[in-house]
Amino acid sequence: MDHFGFRDGVLHAEDVPLPAIAAAVGTPVYVYSAATLRRHARVFKAALSGLPRVHLAYAIKANPNLAVLRLMANEGYGADVVSAGEMKRALAAGMAASAIVFSGVGKTEGELAAALDAGIGQFNLELEEEGEVLARLAVTRGMRAPAVLRVNPDVDAGTHAKISTGRKQNKFGVPIDQAPAMYARLAALPGLDLRGVALHIGSQLADLAPLEAAFGRIGELVRALRGAGHRVERVDLGGGLGVPYRADDVLPTPADYGAMVARATAGWDVELQFEPGRVIAGNAGVLLTRVIWVKPGPENVEGVHPYVIVDAAMNDLARPALYDAWHDFIAVEPTSARMVANIAGPVCESGDTFAMGRDIDAVRNGDLAVFRTAGAYGATMASTYNSRALVPEVLVDGDRYAVVADRVSPEALIAAERVPEWL
Ligand code: LLP
Repeated sequence: MDHFGFRDGVLHAEDVPLPAIAAAVGTPVYVYSAATLRRHARVFKAALSGLPRVHLAYAIKANPNLAVLRLMANEGYGADVVSAGEMKRALAAGMAASAIVFSGVGKTEGELAAALDAGIGQFNLELEEEGEVLARLAVTRGMRAPAVLRVNPDVDAGTHAKISTGRKQNKFGVPIDQAPAMYARLAALPGLDLRGVALHIGSQLADLAPLEAAFGRIGELVRALRGAGHRVERVDLGGGLGVPYRADDVLPTPADYGAMVARATAGWDVELQFEPGRVIAGNAGVLLTRVIWVKPGPENVEGVHPYVIVDAAMNDLARPALYDAWHDFIAVEPTSARMVANIAGPVCESGDTFAMGRDIDAVRNGDLAVFRTAGAYGATMASTYNSRALVPEVLVDGDRYAVVADRVSPEALIAAERVPEWL
C-alpha cells in the first residue's frame, strides 16, 4: 500500500498535487512519500515482532538519501552498508555506529580501518583473507572486531540473474561446505569477535521457498558449528523480499515472510538480523516526468507504435535498461482515453526505452506522468550520462514537501573537471 493517489483527477503524493512539485522543482524529479516509508518500516517490523531477538538494518543501497535515512533511524532501524560512502551517510543521518552492519564483497583495507575507527557494529566477512586483514587492523588498535561470516548456501533465488547472489557461481559469501573449517580458523584470531553467520540470496524475490531452503541450510550449519564448540549468537538473514511492480503482481507479504522466518528459525536461539531495502522504499517513490514529444511511428506498419518521449531517461532510472524491469507509467491528470505506445527517454541509445507497445493513459506533449515503484534503486543508480543533470529528490510528508537532493546542474559537473594547462 502506498500514499500516491488521485484527488479530483490529479495524482497526489499524500496531500501534495504532483503538478505543484513539477512547477516548483522541475522535471524529472523523484518524489517520495514519508507516510509510505513509515508504513513499510512499521509493517516489516510488526511482521517480525514474534521473533525473540531482532536487529533491523535498512539496506541503504536501495535509497540512501539522507532524509530517508533519518526517517528510518527515527523508526528504530540501523543500516546495512556496503561502502565507506554508505557508512558515512548512515552516520551523517544520525544512525548509531553500533547499529550499522558492513556488508560488501570488496571492502578495501582503508574501508575496514575507517569502519573500525567509527565503531561499526558488525562486519560481514566475505572471505577468509578479509577476516585476517580485519583481525590485524583490530589488533593494532587494541580492539576485537565484531564479525559474522557470510555463507553462500548455493540456492537459486529464482530472480533476475543480475540480482541473484546465492548460487555457488556468484561472487558472494564462502562455500557452505568450507564454512565450518573457515569459521574455526577465524574464531581463533585474537582480533576477531566472530559471532555468527550471514546470507543473502538475491533481490526482488517473488517466492519464499528458496529463502526457506537457504535458511534450512544455515540452520544445519549453526547446529554443526555449535556441535564443534563454537559460539553462534547472530544470524543475518539479509534482505530480498520483492514488491509488486504491476497491479496484478502477487507477492509474499511481510507477514508471510515473518511467518516463514519464525518456522525456519525456530529454536536457533540467536539474534536474527534483517537487511530489507526494496520492500521499504520501492513503492514509496515515483519518478515524475514530463512528456516532451509524442512522436508518431511509420504509418500502417503492424506492431509499430508511436514513441512517447519523456524528459526522464535511462540515466535517471536505469532499471528498465539494466534488467528489463517494468515500471507502471501513469498520467498525472489522465483522461479516460488510452493509447498503445513505446515510452523512451532523450538519451542517444535505443536502450533508453522504458516500455515497448504498452497500453497507457493517452498523453500529449507537455503532460506530466510518473513511473511508479521507483523509490528503490532509482535515484541512487542515476548518472549524468549525456551530460544530463543529476536528478533531484523531493520528500512529501502530509501537506508539506522538501527538496531533499538538489538537481546537480551540468555547470556544477563541469566545474568539477579540469583541462590541464598543457592542452
Ligand atoms: N543485503 C545485501 C547483502 C544485499 O546485497 C542487498 C541487495 C540487500 C540486503 C537488499 O536487498 P533488497 O531487500 O532490496 O532486495 N539494483 C537492483 C537490486 C540490487 C540488490 C543488491 N543487493 C535492482 O534495481 O533491482
